[in-house]
This record gives sequence, C-alpha cells and structure tokens, in this order.
Amino acid sequence: MPPTHPTEVTLDVHLGPDELMAGMRHDALHGLGSRPRELPPTWFYDNVGCRLFDAITELEEYYPTRAERSILIDYGDQIAKASQADTFIELGSGTSDKTRHLLDAMLQLGQLERYVPFDVAEPTLRQAADQLVGEYPGLTVHGVVGDFRHHLHLLPAGGRRMLAVLGGTIGNLPPEDRAVMLATLSAQMAPGDTLLIGTDLVKDPARLVLAYDDHAGVTAAFNRNVLVRLNRELGANFDLARFEHVALFDPDNEWIEMRLRSVGDQQVSVGDLGLTIDLLDGETIRTEISAKFRPEGWQAESEAAGLELVSQWFDPAGDFCLSLSAKPGV
Ligand code: SAH
Ligand code: AVI
Repeated sequence: MPPTHPTEVTLDVHLGPDELMAGMRHDALHGLGSRPRELPPTWFYDNVGCRLFDAITELEEYYPTRAERSILIDYGDQIAKASQADTFIELGSGTSDKTRHLLDAMLQLGQLERYVPFDVAEPTLRQAADQLVGEYPGLTVHGVVGDFRHHLHLLPAGGRRMLAVLGGTIGNLPPEDRAVMLATLSAQMAPGDTLLIGTDLVKDPARLVLAYDDHAGVTAAFNRNVLVRLNRELGANFDLARFEHVALFDPDNEWIEMRLRSVGDQQVSVGDLGLTIDLLDGETIRTEISAKFRPEGWQAESEAAGLELVSQWFDPAGDFCLSLSAKPGV
C-alpha cells in the first residue's frame, strides 16, 4: 500500500497583518471619532475573542447555537439535496464546528468536493481548516482569510456553489450593509447556486437580553475584550474597570444592541491614531447589533436581492431559522 498523505489546506490570505491593522485603524478612527460612538463587531474576534465566543455558545442562556445545530442535524440531508452543491463556501465560519453536520450530510449525498471556510480570524480559520482536512479525507479545504464587508469579489469561483452565513452573523451587519452584502452575493451567483442563511428569530425580549447578558459574565468579557484589543494593537488606554457591559433590545429595529457604557466622565486616547476622545458619564460605545428576524422578513430581503426562497427550516422551539434561497435561471 502506498503511504497516504493528508491533503494540504489551501489558504488565500486577503487580509494579512498590514491590511488587518489598516482596517481596524479605519473602523476605530471613524467609529470612535464621532458620535454616537461605535465599533464594528468584526474586531471582537482576536484569539481571546474567538475563545470567548466559543464559551458563549456553551452558555445555558445563549440558545442560538444549540437551536441552529439541531436544525442542521434534523434537516442537513434536505439542505444538501436542495442545494446539490459541489462547493460549499461559508462566510464567518469560525471553528466550523456545527458546520460538520452539514458537511456530513453533503458528503453522504456524494456531490461535495470543496469546502471554503472564510473568516477574518486567521488563526481560528487555520486551525479549523487543518482539523477538517484530517477529518474529511478527499474533501478539498480551501480557506480564505478576508473581511466579508470588503472581499466578497474574491470568493473562489467554479462549481455549483452553496454560499452560507450561519449562526445569525448576517444580523450583525446594519440593514444597509446587509442589503449590500446580499446584493453582492446574488450578483456573483450563477443560476442554480444557493444561499443558506441562519437567522435568530424575534422572541420574548427578556429571553433575548439574557442571551446577551449571561449570569457568568462571559458575554460581558467578550464585549470588553474589544477594548483590550485596542489597547494592545492600537496603543489605546481604555480603563476596563470604567466600562460597563450593556445589552438591550431595541423593539423598533427588532435587534439586540451591545454597548460599553462609560462610568464617569473620562478621556481616552488611541495612541496609534493620534485620537483623544472625551466620554461623558453614561455615554456608550455601540459594539454590536444582532438583528432578530421574522421568516417572511428574510424572504422579502432575499427576494429584493433577486433570489428565490427554496425552503425554511426551524428548530422544534421555533427559535431559529435556516433559509435556503436560489439564484433563478435553471
Ligand atoms: N459561524 C460560526 C461563528 C460565528 S461567530 C457559528 O455559527 O458559530 C462570527 C464569526 O464571523 C467569527 O468567526 C468572526 O471571526 C467572523 N467575522 C466577523 N466579522 C467578520 C468579517 N467582517 N469578515 C469575515 N469574518 C468575520
Ligand atoms: C456571531 N454572532 C451571530 C453572535 C450574535 O449572537 O450576534 C455574536 C455574539 N455577541 C454576543 N454574543 C454572541
């Protein structure tokens, strides 16, 4: 028997250390330098942030990961059959942990050739990709390090593709950016390509807020970690003890907001940006929106981008929804 060699991972890096720092500098300058203060959630995900997110997914209060996993287990075969994809591109793939249920179903069907995990967090992506090639011999794993707000034109082409954004990450984009992302994806999909989107659903606000303000304080640590990152990587001097974690539900927009609230008036400087900001007592920095959806609302959004809804699947409690849409034309 000839020796078997594990398949190598291919990795396209569109966001090397310089581009990553430039992106962070740009977002911090624009977001912190004007009111209302804001930081995009993209910058949560350094190594510590990725680990904290993993810990969040294990929390009793944080139901979305469990709910989406149950849909993937129960209906992965239906999703695989409906997509008929040989190439599966996942945006914001993280550890690709629950994705494995879908990979299993797609491989079982016998058409999947290539998995393309795409993420801004290079170390997490590399680790996931390395593990996947070991676990799935014969599957081509082609990782892409990039920012899905800027690099969607660089997705690998070819094959019958299913694009996916799981976990509710699509809801972390403001609605205008979400519409741009959907339109950009739709424009590059060929007839028969599909888009699989995981959306957390509107529900009791008290339950939603608890999911983002857990008793153990893991989400608070995840939120504050973005300041730790700015201190380390942009020479800022945020005093963590003077920022409180806030999670609130905005009923008009039907989204959760995470914020960091200044305890007392304070001045913070971001050395590498030459930026000094004066924060008033109680003033907040918005660090994330996490939109909650209605199934028909998602259908309307995807149709507005020129896609046709194929099917929607729900967990038994009706907390979360996976929607598959197709580019018409076949
Ligand atoms: N899909 C996984 C991970 C969700 S956490 C799940 O469902 O559990 C969100 C993931 O999106 C993280 O891995 C983070 O690094 C990635 N991410 C956040 N902003 C991004 C951006 N602008 N471009 C690419 N990836 C991004
Ligand atoms: C990645 N994203 C879908 C998570 C969410 O629920 O919006 C990030 C998160 N923020 C706080 N907890 C989890």
